[in-house]
Amino acid sequence: MRFDKCYLIRKFPNFAPAMNTQIGADLRAAKQFLEAGLPIGIPTETVYGLAANALSPAAVARIFEVKNRPTFDPLIVHVPDAEAAQRYTTQWPEAAQRLADAFWPGPLTLLLDKHEVVPDLVTSGLPRVGLRVPAHPLTRKLLQAIDFPLAAPSANPFGYISPTSAQHVYDQLQGRIPYILDGGPCSIGVESTIIGFENGQTLVYRLGGLSLEQLEQVAGPLTLQLHQSSNPAAPGMLSTHYAPRKSLYLGNIDELRLRFPLLRAGLLTLRPLPQVPPNTLAIYLSAGGDLNEAAQQLFAAMRLLDQSDVDIILAEAMPENGLGRAMNDRLKRAAV
Ligand code: TXA
Ligand code: MG
Repeated sequence: MRFDKCYLIRKFPNFAPAMNTQIGADLRAAKQFLEAGLPIGIPTETVYGLAANALSPAAVARIFEVKNRPTFDPLIVHVPDAEAAQRYTTQWPEAAQRLADAFWPGPLTLLLDKHEVVPDLVTSGLPRVGLRVPAHPLTRKLLQAIDFPLAAPSANPFGYISPTSAQHVYDQLQGRIPYILDGGPCSIGVESTIIGFENGQTLVYRLGGLSLEQLEQVAGPLTLQLHQSSNPAAPGMLSTHYAPRKSLYLGNIDELRLRFPLLRAGLLTLRPLPQVPPNTLAIYLSAGGDLNEAAQQLFAAMRLLDQSDVDIILAEAMPENGLGRAMNDRLKRAAV
């Protein structure tokens, strides 16, 4: 149907056209859609976000609608700098300042007591708000050009793998959002590390793009309190998440192959396999076993295997250091 002519409304009583989704790098267009209360895709250094005006409950409600996300799963609020972050919290401990100085802009989200200007819908009624200063240059410019913060979950349908390119966002949300701001592939590739402060301790709630080793250098000893579906502090981190549609098994690849000898398997490994077994599609994440490079490629590789002709995905666990920990966390949540 074309809209270059005027139609009689009586002819289309139930007609709701899909949105025309554009991809581009036009900050003015991005700003206009956001000001009109429409969610758009935005690049960050971790994953692409589905952003809307965090101070408008109506705009935030549209994020939940577009993603099919239950409203008990809170959203992170993105701000241009630490000074802006302080407007949305009633708590700014010295530890927050130290971490902000060291890691913002960057892949770190701080959970702090929520200021009342932040709508309850953003935090799913929880007492704290997640605040983050993203590092992607285009999104930094966007945040500086608008006069409100951006609530933004990852721009994937609820439960699916997070997007690390504008094309990933388009593949799944086209027709549901008007615009995707294209900032190229994400440089980190896994979501931000989420931390908070309780009883003088620094707690890590979600492993992510800032490694524990880096965090520890500034924050001192850390306590891991990783989100489970049973953890009321973070109802969003359901144990099944980041999941491809095909069944993914995590473990020793040779053993897993013996379990499913008749199926065509997609193999996901850190380094190239010396020999690719028959009836498999093997994808490795980094020729030299570099965990940063591997993290950057992880979600794209999972998507590729999900869309390929394989029957199942067999993934090997990563080394438990650096970004390997966050990758293992995502693989575990993706696994059956
Ligand atoms: O890197 C990232 O953090 C990306 C980019 C777009 O910034 N965002 C992201 O958002 O991963 P999302 O919605 O996919 O995951 C955010 C998670 C929630 O599921 C929840 O577990 C936790 O952060 N969270 C956010 N706000 C919270 C709050 N007020 N209280 C407890 N947990 C919260
Ligand atoms: Mg997400």
